[in-house]
Amino acid sequence: MTSQRQSKSRSFTDVFGGRASAVGAAPGRVNLLGEHTDYNDGYVLPIAIPQQTHVAIRASVGDTTTVYAADLERSVPFTFASPPTEQFATYIYGCLAEARIEGIVVPALDIHVASDVPMGVGLSSSAALEVATLRALRALLDLPLDNVRIAQLAQRAEINHAGVRCGIMDQMASSLADTTHALFLDARTLHVRLIDLWPGTAVLVLDSGVARSLATSGFNQRRAECEQAARMLGVAALRDIDADRNAAKISALPEPLRRRARHVVTENARVLRAVRCGDPCEFGALMNASHASLRDDFEVSVSQLDWLVGSLQSHPAVYGARLTGAGFGGACVALCRSDALSEISLQVLAEYADEGGAGRVLVPPVV
Ligand code: GLA
Repeated sequence: MTSQRQSKSRSFTDVFGGRASAVGAAPGRVNLLGEHTDYNDGYVLPIAIPQQTHVAIRASVGDTTTVYAADLERSVPFTFASPPTEQFATYIYGCLAEARIEGIVVPALDIHVASDVPMGVGLSSSAALEVATLRALRALLDLPLDNVRIAQLAQRAEINHAGVRCGIMDQMASSLADTTHALFLDARTLHVRLIDLWPGTAVLVLDSGVARSLATSGFNQRRAECEQAARMLGVAALRDIDADRNAAKISALPEPLRRRARHVVTENARVLRAVRCGDPCEFGALMNASHASLRDDFEVSVSQLDWLVGSLQSHPAVYGARLTGAGFGGACVALCRSDALSEISLQVLAEYADEGGAGRVLVPPVV
């Protein structure tokens, strides 16, 4: 989707007449460290990105809810008895359906959505849509939902209605993170802490241009493998396995469970080290190690991402880089010297183009 501010897309009034009664907004996120750990009850370290999704709503008459996506220029009507089939409307339907299951009386609604969160690249456009929708609903109905509860409802919308057995990182980040701190989240307890980034550093996100075609099936398969490994190790979740003390037990697992488990336990250890580490060089080294683990043990990288990440890692103004999000294509993230952001992205993307790639800068957003 493109921004409501940037495009001449139709406003709420253009589409529905009159004015919206309530609005909600929520950002996308980029994960700095802790990949495929959240659904193993582990630790993650995302940060909100500047791009946001905006939802404006008003109660309507009758049974039919209508969603208008300004950036897609699409209107989708649905009822609770007849759910939508379009992906973007499914996320909204899922939020409203989960709110109903909570006992909230949800009226038919007119809903206007505008977003500049890049879609399909691993920056959580779906979580931003879910959290913005629930925030708008909270404002409309004056609901006593705190931000954690909103994240939990949004996660259920995604699992029960969009078919991705995701963890809770994306929804918690969209609901609780800001753009200037990393959000340290314990996905088991939902305890959060905001972590300062170092002065003079900045986050760069590059799109590889490779569509995440296997994302849903590959994601669900990895999750099932992790759950099987945890069962074989006799623990509730891989979070309960210590990398050093349980090395022999992990080694005894059959492949690919051995490598899947090794990624998760070493990645959790990396996040715990990162929140205590003293300088961006050490943090960057943990990002680099995370990418190697995602590539070799979790097997969710693709050659183009490996190329981009390698190029970023070899740039002198980059502290560290890795693929970000579920993988199988999509984007990579780097922690960089803030004064060198444009020089880094120009050089790396030009070299990527020479290799036949079509990359672009996602964060910071081009204004
Ligand atoms: C997706 C899921 C998250 C998380 C990441 C991988 O974004 O929605 O819950 O599992 O992949 O870290």
